[in-house]
Amino acid sequence: MPRTATKSTSRKRAAKSTKPRSNSRQRDVIALIKADHATVNQLFRRYKSLGERAEKSRRQVAERVIKELSVHAAVEEQVLYPNAREALARGKSLVKEAIKEHQELKELLATLDKASPASDGFDELMSEIIDSVRHHVKEEEQPGGILSELRKHASRDELMQMATLCRAAKKAAPTRPHPMAPNTPPGNLVVGAVAGLMDKARDAVSRR
Ligand SMILES: [Fe+2]
Ligand SMILES: [Fe+2]
Repeated sequence: MPRTATKSTSRKRAAKSTKPRSNSRQRDVIALIKADHATVNQLFRRYKSLGERAEKSRRQVAERVIKELSVHAAVEEQVLYPNAREALARGKSLVKEAIKEHQELKELLATLDKASPASDGFDELMSEIIDSVRHHVKEEEQPGGILSELRKHASRDELMQMATLCRAAKKAAPTRPHPMAPNTPPGNLVVGAVAGLMDKARDAVSRR
């Protein structure tokens, strides 16, 4: 005889079906990377909403931007780009251009890290970073870019495995820019992990 659902089992099923689907454990690599892009864009909007005299807040938002982008760049260079280079027909040229833009960005972030929000060039530097990141993100997300090409050519399993690797890489990633460090494996895996530990020690001292 087929078993009929009791009231309590149907309630359990109903509860299960209303669980939020945004659980990060279920996100694939593309959703994770796009969520990082959205976080950084929110910080840019916050920065632009601050007045000239809000020096402390401008410095705090700039520090968050430096941290988010340093971690994001390291995770892409350790997980996303090596896989894209192998899996995509245009992988080599897409990744070469992306790494060149990361390098330029790291140099700008290193300058920002040392700048004072009271200095003349601080806002210009921030504007340059905002423009450069928005251009780079557009290239990654647009049709023909790394993310949409991976969506087309990688399997769901591969995208989920890359998400797991990204979450692990994020925990050890550097939180500050290191423009002199290697951008590609295996160098970035070794130096990135050491830099990550050193950055976290500095973050603890400076309470970042
Ligand atoms: Fe990138
Ligand atoms: Fe990105």
